[in-house]
Amino acid sequence: MDRSEIIRWLKEEDPRRLKELYLRAYAVKLKNVGNHVFFRGIIELSNICQKDCLYCGIRKSNARVERFLMSKQEILESSKSALDMQYGSLVLQSGERTDLEFVDFVEDVVREIKALRDSNNSLGITLSLGEQTQETYQRWFDAGAHRYLLRIETSNSKLYEELHPADHSFSERLNCLEVLRKVGYQVGTGVMIGLPYQTVEDLADDILFFKDKDIDMIGMGPYLVHKDTPLAESIQEDIRKKNLELGLKMIALTRIHLQDVNIAATTALQALSLSGREMGLQSGANIIMPNITHTKYRKFYQLYEDKPCLDENASLCRDCLSQRIDSIGEEIGYNQWGDSPHFLKKR
Ligand code: 5AD
Ligand code: FES
Repeated sequence: MDRSEIIRWLKEEDPRRLKELYLRAYAVKLKNVGNHVFFRGIIELSNICQKDCLYCGIRKSNARVERFLMSKQEILESSKSALDMQYGSLVLQSGERTDLEFVDFVEDVVREIKALRDSNNSLGITLSLGEQTQETYQRWFDAGAHRYLLRIETSNSKLYEELHPADHSFSERLNCLEVLRKVGYQVGTGVMIGLPYQTVEDLADDILFFKDKDIDMIGMGPYLVHKDTPLAESIQEDIRKKNLELGLKMIALTRIHLQDVNIAATTALQALSLSGREMGLQSGANIIMPNITHTKYRKFYQLYEDKPCLDENASLCRDCLSQRIDSIGEEIGYNQWGDSPHFLKKR
């Protein structure tokens, strides 16, 4: 697909034609990554953040959030529950912190998770901890993490600047993606879809960006309002509804254009529709990140409003998800890392 074709599809509104697009993407998915859904149990270990992104509910200027950092013990307990539930992989996510105390803490936690079973090394670890130095990325990699998610948020540097305060840098973020690759991680990135001021041309360029940067994993989802953020006022209800469809189109087009990468059906899709993630799987996604954060912390980690599963615990989410995935005829790859086929082929 070339840029103009991607743009045409992003503008398409005819439900029959869109159905064709999703079916086509699903066929590409089956051919390249099969019908297995891989789980990454996500632990949102802290909402303390030194950044101030204009869209995000845990930005440092939001004084209405109570801040937390899970203890090492709590993180290890959640990790054990992932093992018990046969999730093959974890994602550790948090607000961004670059101080040495935090860097040491994460390194220690990663090492201990990797040592959890006598069989050792049974959980794959993805980190989603923001922009760090090469040294930090290297230390966490050496400790045992092997995948890293760092969304570029938008590949349009102008738009990036509008959505972030002046001390945030698009080029530094880009550079982090390069460094992650150099260190040896499977590199994931992604964008928010339906941001104010964002055009379909921007979104098409996002997909071309993923390809150009040889990205292994994609995590992207609709932009959702958080009322305590400056951007909240500029978005209307009907745009919200359009965003679900736009999110599905982006997954489908990314699958068709990149073929063999891992693509997540993100929680943000589920926030817009109860069955949003299943729709994502049927449009080409193959990864789901069930929340395994302890229920007592979930309400403090709201990057956007209407975040689902705030009151459910990890095992409830597991049962709910397995039913949902059964219902669309897909299989769950329990106890497997489910690495990006694109990455594995390069090796
Ligand atoms: N709506 C949707 N996604 C958001 N994120 C942050 N704030 C929002 C929001 N209001 C996403 C960003 C970030 C990821 C962890 O969550 O893309 O990289
Ligand atoms: Fe949490 Fe369905 S995934 S209740």
